[in-house]
Amino acid sequence: PTYDNILVETHGRVGLIRLNRPAALNALCDALVRELGAQLQAFDADKAIGAIVITGSDRAFAAGADIKEMHGRTNPDAMMEDFIGANWESVLKVKKPVIAAVAGFALGGGCELAMMCDMIFAADTAKFGQPEINLGVIPGAGGTQRLTRAVGKSKAMDMVLTARMMDAAEAERANLVSRVFPADQLLPEVLKIAAKIADLSPVAVQFAKQAVNRAFETTLAEGVRHERALFLSLFGTPHQKEGMAAFIEKRKPNFQ
Ligand code: HXC
Repeated sequence: PTYDNILVETHGRVGLIRLNRPAALNALCDALVRELGAQLQAFDADKAIGAIVITGSDRAFAAGADIKEMHGRTNPDAMMEDFIGANWESVLKVKKPVIAAVAGFALGGGCELAMMCDMIFAADTAKFGQPEINLGVIPGAGGTQRLTRAVGKSKAMDMVLTARMMDAAEAERANLVSRVFPADQLLPEVLKIAAKIADLSPVAVQFAKQAVNRAFETTLAEGVRHERALFLSLFGTPHQKEGMAAFIEKRKPNFQ
């Protein structure tokens, strides 16, 4: 398919999606969010792809939902279209790992999109924020929930109520991002990490993602039971035999 608002590349077994509305700092208009959802679904269905990276430009990952588009929305329209549920949550439906590589602004819906991904890697230029309060609204794509789980209550309240931005160093200290790289190394480093994951057992990777995500949805005892069931079921896969045989034979495993 051809897209107007995203660029799509593959790097070996890694699928890369670049948000691409430079004139609007990658503001997430409906069309962009629809295209992103369609391509995520396509990569998820493609056996040649093992991991997915979403990135923006040097200046902005995404400066939020498109304010010019939202401005005219009426309450019944917004509810009837289910404009958040229908497309924004497409990231959450992907079974393969989805990695956000964030440089520049990740604000509002841009920060929320990054937080829907499985991990966030940041350039030292990254700036995260939930400035919706300045617009007379609040985060609407999970920001109040995911930011709070990531950085705790006081810092989440600070971000959501004052609309201030958090730089990359603070985001790393606060556990919002897993690692920070110099801006010119962000994408190459993230592609390397994604390539490593993409070469692993696809079923083990999928189960690992599922198990970690379960930690946010359930009690400890239930989460541990879920993990154990997944762990045991992996002993029925050829990947477990291959992975363990490769270790014993002192060679690299081949999971593909
Ligand atoms: C539409 C946007 C935009 C946005 C930037 N632009 N952000 N257009 N929606 N969210 C446009 C500007 O209008 C401008 O277009 C161009 O991008 C460049 O932006 P500038 O403001 O000129 O750049 P700069 O001075 O460098 O400031 C950068 C900025 C600022 C600090 C990121 O653009 C900003 O504050 N943007 C809005 C951030 C925000 O409030 N995000 C939350 C949105 S609400 P023109 O045509 O004028 O050159 C949200 C809710 C999600 O995300 C809920 C789930 C659906």
